[in-house]
Amino acid sequence: MVNNESGVNLAILGATGNVGRKFLEVLEEKNFPIKNLKLLASKKSAGTKVKFKEKEYTVELATKDSFNGIDLVLASAGGTISKELVPHAVKSGAVVVDNSSAYRMDPDVPLVVAGVNNHDLKKHKGIIANPNCTTAQLMPPLKVLQDLAGLKRVIVSTYQSVSGAGKAAMDELTEQSKNILQGKDVACNVSTNRKFAFNVIPHIDVFSDDGYTKEEIKVINESRKILGLPNLKITCTAVRVPVYIGHSESVNVEFEKQISRDDIVRALRAMPLIEIIDDPSSEKYPMAIDIAGTDPVYVGRIREDKSNPNTFNLWIVADNLRIGAALNAVRIAEVLLKESLLLSKKN
Ligand SMILES: NC(=O)c1ccc[n+]([C@@H]2O[C@H](COP(=O)([O-])OP(=O)(O)OC[C@H]3O[C@@H](n4cnc5c(N)ncnc54)[C@H](OP(=O)(O)O)[C@@H]3O)[C@@H](O)[C@H]2O)c1
Repeated sequence: MVNNESGVNLAILGATGNVGRKFLEVLEEKNFPIKNLKLLASKKSAGTKVKFKEKEYTVELATKDSFNGIDLVLASAGGTISKELVPHAVKSGAVVVDNSSAYRMDPDVPLVVAGVNNHDLKKHKGIIANPNCTTAQLMPPLKVLQDLAGLKRVIVSTYQSVSGAGKAAMDELTEQSKNILQGKDVACNVSTNRKFAFNVIPHIDVFSDDGYTKEEIKVINESRKILGLPNLKITCTAVRVPVYIGHSESVNVEFEKQISRDDIVRALRAMPLIEIIDDPSSEKYPMAIDIAGTDPVYVGRIREDKSNPNTFNLWIVADNLRIGAALNAVRIAEVLLKESLLLSKKN
């Protein structure tokens, strides 16, 4: 039986990436009980050394045989690798918290934001999906507001940092910025023909036939699944901005019932995952640059939308690499451990 005392045999799939490195940071901060740690990546990083809690680990090449003896896998190596390797991990008895989009909409896979829909974890059959970072930070406030007065319609406009596109995108923003300021030619490898630097790009992930991008569709479908509201009226425009870390979202919420700003503030304040920064008189509101590296979902600019009854605007900001990926995955792992849901087939 895996428990707090014995510790967990843990593998991190994609350990050298943006999210993988955050996993290690969050696991160390939270002193997550680890018995053995295995770091997995592609051929490119296999053999490199990574430090965790003063100990050096050698990154190994991820294969279908990497999961023997593993209780828990935190996966963040992208959808293709998850589709290929996660079934092998489950077969060998591990529970997988997967950060890719591979299993999010699978009806047999719970899609969970810790603290919002923990009850869904009990239904897991070996895989738990972590939502898209944009959805993850939207869920704590929307869950509070749904419980408070019912969501009638939600309009989301995002301002997403480049770290959401991986480490290479962050490096590309730096290179592009330097080159533009020096009047040099600019390469667009990750950003394919659209510069991240000094730009605002209304295009994240690929376009589907209806004109929406896959990122926008993820926000719509994942929100409905997590909130258990399959018919929720929700729309999204997802935009990339030249910010390293921290996604911002302008959210317009129409409620079923009449509600005041005070009701909203009181309810949001009572939710442990949320912190309110909202004081126009002293020009205080959440900004990505200030909150990177921190855990809460920040809400500010809470104000009535005077163009429509029972409608309010909110500005929601969070560190996409933490709540949107590593922090949520580790919080899920903590609940699995606490509620004895980390049941390996070996036990
Ligand atoms: N960034 C976010 O805000 C965010 C939020 C939620 C979810 N996610 C999801 O998490 C995943 C990773 O994102 P990221 O930002 O960390 O990307 P990243 O920085 O590009 O890292 C990718 C990781 O996957 C590994 N990898 C690549 N190909 C592999 C292979 N064939 N076999 C084994 N490992 C392989 C890489 O190892 P090498 O070093 O060997 O290349 C690296 O460790 C994506 O699915 C993304 O959608 C990201």
